[in-house]
Amino acid sequence: MPVALILILVLMIILLVFLLPGVIGAPYVPSEQKDLERAFTKLYKISEKDYLVDLGAGDGIVLKAAAAHGAKAIGVEINPLLAIYTSLKLRRVKGAKIKCGDMYTFELPSETTVVYAYANNFTIPRLYKRVQKEAKRLNKTIYLISNAFDFKTIKAQKHLAPYYLYKIEP
Ligand SMILES: C[S@@+](CC[C@H](N)C(=O)[O-])C[C@H]1O[C@@H](n2cnc3c(N)ncnc32)[C@H](O)[C@@H]1O
Repeated sequence: MPVALILILVLMIILLVFLLPGVIGAPYVPSEQKDLERAFTKLYKISEKDYLVDLGAGDGIVLKAAAAHGAKAIGVEINPLLAIYTSLKLRRVKGAKIKCGDMYTFELPSETTVVYAYANNFTIPRLYKRVQKEAKRLNKTIYLISNAFDFKTIKAQKHLAPYYLYKIEP
């Protein structure tokens, strides 16, 4: 097989891996560090008592920020290349890790106190339902921080642009 063809194939696979999550879920756009700091101090005061789950964890910026406040944090990311890259990035970050998987089927650990999502208008209602289901299964209240997107039908407990905070009861 000519080298050019192999290169095109590799390029197509890489593009697919990076673009597909954008088509079926949320595209890879990281949260802003300064917004995260505000969110974790003013919207939801995260601490060592918390266990945060980032649904669609991208490059792990949220996990790192949560861990910097002493919380434990786990992320789930559908893009395998991004998941590998992020797990390498997080290897020296105490309390933070990432798994490759689908956020719609990922079971929240029983210690989960807060879920973070940077999704989009189409996926956020589905994610809300998922967290609701998990809160029922675990029989505990779970907070949901949504970056940039709100649920039109449910009133947020707090709003601090660009974030919305929801309290989901079992
Ligand atoms: C907007 S980015 C947010 C990344 C990170 N949470 C942040 O705030 O910086 C959304 C991420 O969700 C991932 N994603 C999309 N669909 C997913 C799915 N079904 N399961 C897990 N991750 C998914 C994308 O690959 C992308 O990295």
